[in-house]
Amino acid sequence: MPSCAKGDTACPCASRESGVRGLDQRRIFVEELVKGMYVRSLDRPWVESPFLFQGFVIEDDETLQQLRSLCEYVFVDVEQSRVDVPERQDVDHSVSAVASSIQVTEFRSYQEFRSAARKAGASRMLAGGYLERVFSDVRMGKSMGTADAKDVVSDMVDTISASPNTALWLTNLRQHSEHTAVHCLNVCVLVLAFCKHLGYSREEMEVIGLGALLLDIGKTRTPDHILNKPGRLTREEFAIMKRHPEDGYRLMVETGDVPPQALGIIRLHHERLAGHGYPLGLSGESITRPILMTAIADVYDAVTSDRVYQLGMPPDVALQAMYEKAETNYGRDLMQEFIKCMGIYPVGSLVQLENGATGIVLSAGEHTRLAPRVLLIKDTRGRFYKDRRLVDLARLQTQDRTGRWIIRRVVNPAEVGVDMTSVMLDETSLPPVDQVDKDPAMRG
Ligand SMILES: [Fe+2]
Repeated sequence: MPSCAKGDTACPCASRESGVRGLDQRRIFVEELVKGMYVRSLDRPWVESPFLFQGFVIEDDETLQQLRSLCEYVFVDVEQSRVDVPERQDVDHSVSAVASSIQVTEFRSYQEFRSAARKAGASRMLAGGYLERVFSDVRMGKSMGTADAKDVVSDMVDTISASPNTALWLTNLRQHSEHTAVHCLNVCVLVLAFCKHLGYSREEMEVIGLGALLLDIGKTRTPDHILNKPGRLTREEFAIMKRHPEDGYRLMVETGDVPPQALGIIRLHHERLAGHGYPLGLSGESITRPILMTAIADVYDAVTSDRVYQLGMPPDVALQAMYEKAETNYGRDLMQEFIKCMGIYPVGSLVQLENGATGIVLSAGEHTRLAPRVLLIKDTRGRFYKDRRLVDLARLQTQDRTGRWIIRRVVNPAEVGVDMTSVMLDETSLPPVDQVDKDPAMRG
C-alpha cells in the first residue's frame, strides 16, 4: 500500500506530453492489472483516489482491489514494472474524461444492481413460499382462495416493472423444494417480462400473470409416481400427465374468482398452432396470444432447467431450438419477439469475452443484445474477482476498439468452474439452496 504524499497533477495524459515520466506507458484495464505492475497514473485525478503516491508498484491484493473498485483503467509504466505488461493503445484527453464518467455510472449501476437483486430475491422467496403452500394445500384436498395469488402476481408485476433483468436472472435459482411451484414461478416471471416487452398494460399483466402462476396447479392431481418418475413416461402415464390442464382449469373454476383469460391460460397452455397440442387440439386463431406467450415461457423454462433425466439446454441453444419449430407451435413472429425480449445472450448466460474475462449477462434489450451488461466473475487470467464488477460492454466497446470487450462465446459454468447458484445467493443475500433442481415434475 503506497503511503507517502506528493502534490497532485490530475491528467494522466499530461505525463506523456511532458516526457517527465516513463517513456513507455500503456493503458491497462483494471481487470488485467497484476501485482508487480507500476501504476504511473490513474484515469482520474489522484486527489480523488486514496493513493498518496503518484506512481507505485502494486504490491498487494488490497491495492489491486482498490484500483479495481475505483478505476476503469490506469497507465502502467513498462520500464518500472517487475512483470510483463500487455500491449495496449493509449488514449487522449477526451477519452479519459468520458471514461471517468463511465466509471461513476458503472459503480452506481452495480449498487443499483445489488439493491434490485436483493429486492427481486426477497420477492421471489415470498412468491415461492406461497406457491409451495398452495400446492401442498390443494394436494391435500383443501380449497384455495385467489386473493393471495393476485397479491403475489401484483408484487411480481412491480418487480418486473422495476427491474426485469434481475427477476429474469433469478429464474435460474431454485431455492424451493416444490419443483412444480418453482417452474410456475419462473413461467410467471418470463411471461410478465414478455408482456412488458410487448407493451401490455398493468391490468393485462396481472391477469396473464395469474394464469401463468397457476398454470400447472392441475399437477396436484397427477399421481406422485408419475410426477416423480425419473425415467421416460409410458404412453399410459403420459396420457395421465396430460390431464393436468383440465384438472387445473376445474380447480380454478371452482374458486369462482379467476378471470376467463387466466382460466384459458391454465387450460390451454399446451395447445399448439398446428393443432397437435392438448387437451382440446385447438389450432390457429382459437389459441389467443397470451396463451401462446405462456406456452413459450413454459417450454423455455422447462428445457433450460436441469432434470433427473437430462441436463437443461443453455439459453441460447434453447431459443434456437424453439425458433426452429415456432411455425407450428407458437408462430414465428411471436417467437422472434420472445428472442428479442430475452436477447441473443439471455440474462443469466455465462459468457467469455475476447480478453479472456468471464461474466454473467445481466441485461437484455434489443439495442444492446450483442453488448449487454455483464457481471464479471473471473478476470482475464481466469482468476475469481474478490469484488465482482458490473461492466457495460456497449460502453467499453465504444471506448476500446481493439475488440477485447466483445463476447467470444457462451460457456458452460461447469467448464470454467463457476457456481452460478452461489453467485446468485451472494448477490441477493438469500439463504443457501439445500437442493438443486432434480425435477421430474415439469413434464407435460
Ligand atoms: Fe403444463
